[in-house]
Amino acid sequence: MLAMNYRGPQRVRIDQKPMPEIRHPQDAIVRVTRSCICGSDLHLYNGSVPDTRVGMTFGHEFTGVVEQIGPEVEKLKIGDHVLVPFNIACGKCVFCQQEMYGNCHESNPEATAVGGIFGYSHTAGGYDGGQAEYVRVPYADVSPTVIPEGMDPDDAVMLTDVVPTGYQAAEMGGIQPGDTVMVFGAGPVGIMAARCAWLFGAGRVIIIDQIDYRLEFARNYCPCEAYNFKELDDPVLFAKKTTDWLGADVCIDAVGAEANGSPFHNVLGRGLKMIGGAAPALHWAINSVKKGGVVSIVGVYGPIQTLVPIGNVVNKGITIRANQASVKRLLPRLIEHVQNGILDPKALITHRIPLNTCPTHTEFFPQS
Ligand SMILES: NC(=O)c1ccc[n+]([C@@H]2O[C@H](COP(=O)([O-])OP(=O)(O)OC[C@H]3O[C@@H](n4cnc5c(N)ncnc54)[C@H](O)[C@@H]3O)[C@@H](O)[C@H]2O)c1
Ligand SMILES: [Zn+2]
Ligand SMILES: [Zn+2]
Repeated sequence: MLAMNYRGPQRVRIDQKPMPEIRHPQDAIVRVTRSCICGSDLHLYNGSVPDTRVGMTFGHEFTGVVEQIGPEVEKLKIGDHVLVPFNIACGKCVFCQQEMYGNCHESNPEATAVGGIFGYSHTAGGYDGGQAEYVRVPYADVSPTVIPEGMDPDDAVMLTDVVPTGYQAAEMGGIQPGDTVMVFGAGPVGIMAARCAWLFGAGRVIIIDQIDYRLEFARNYCPCEAYNFKELDDPVLFAKKTTDWLGADVCIDAVGAEANGSPFHNVLGRGLKMIGGAAPALHWAINSVKKGGVVSIVGVYGPIQTLVPIGNVVNKGITIRANQASVKRLLPRLIEHVQNGILDPKALITHRIPLNTCPTHTEFFPQS
């Protein structure tokens, strides 16, 4: 089968790889119909995630048709068209029981932080992902969900990560009616977080990025105030000025470890990899929120220390909430929001690339 193949930092290609097989009675094999590239994949691509092994197939946002099932799979049938949440969750461990499906203790038993994630390095369990023709889906009865009748698969694939992550970013902010919410990052996740902030009663939503076409889209789609941080002298000063010098009630970090805006962070975090990434967006979020406010982090960071102003967190009495999104927990509500037209996730799609038109091994290495 054709599958994306990681060859080292900033080197990926499409190769023929062996078909996945049922390895456990609760596995399913799914023929992929759609698969997205997440901002999280860029961290892998850039070599920022430890233990990303050559040969891995990325892709944790996908839909597909069930082709084979293990003998213990009861809910899924061959032929079902399913959306597959990015978290691999057993459904039974102490964390799954608390609906912390992103922190499953069984799907990634070697780790103490994140649970298993498709195509996300061996720090997230070493599972191959869905940027391929076929993928093995463990615990097939737990998270994979049959795409509801009438739902566009383009909407369904966005429910595997982007929509729940944006929604959970807003949810973790504990937004109160009328709150000013400031979102750092106008990628799909930040845009969805800004959109969802309204659902929790925000009174004002501001989004910050440096890419104008994304800001323009966010301005209309969320809708929200959108600013290019390169045109603001200092985003923190801007946040203070625009909130009567109090700061935003809630700040959301939807950028993560590869944020721009600080040469110092860039050199230490992205160049030398001495810290868990470049964190200027988180830095700005902490300094832009009001005293007693909430900083909600969905941006991904490396496992080691990261330069953030922790003293300001203490002295301002800030609450920090963070996690990988718990997709299965949020799906029932978010499916309803899509079906009722409250959220329109497919509007975020900009590019479509069939797997067989991506560069192949032979195109990269014509002599081999
Ligand atoms: N917690 C989760 O469950 C979860 C799920 C999906 C994605 N993520 C993470 O969320 C983050 C965003 O994902 P995405 O797919 O939207 O990524 P993306 O790369 O498409 O978007 C990130 C955006 O941040 C902007 N940016 C860079 N530096 C900035 C700064 N200092 N201030 C403001 N904006 C800045 C970039 O220009 C870009 O538009 C990533 O870190 C990703 O790994 C987390
Ligand atoms: Zn993702
Ligand atoms: Zn579990």
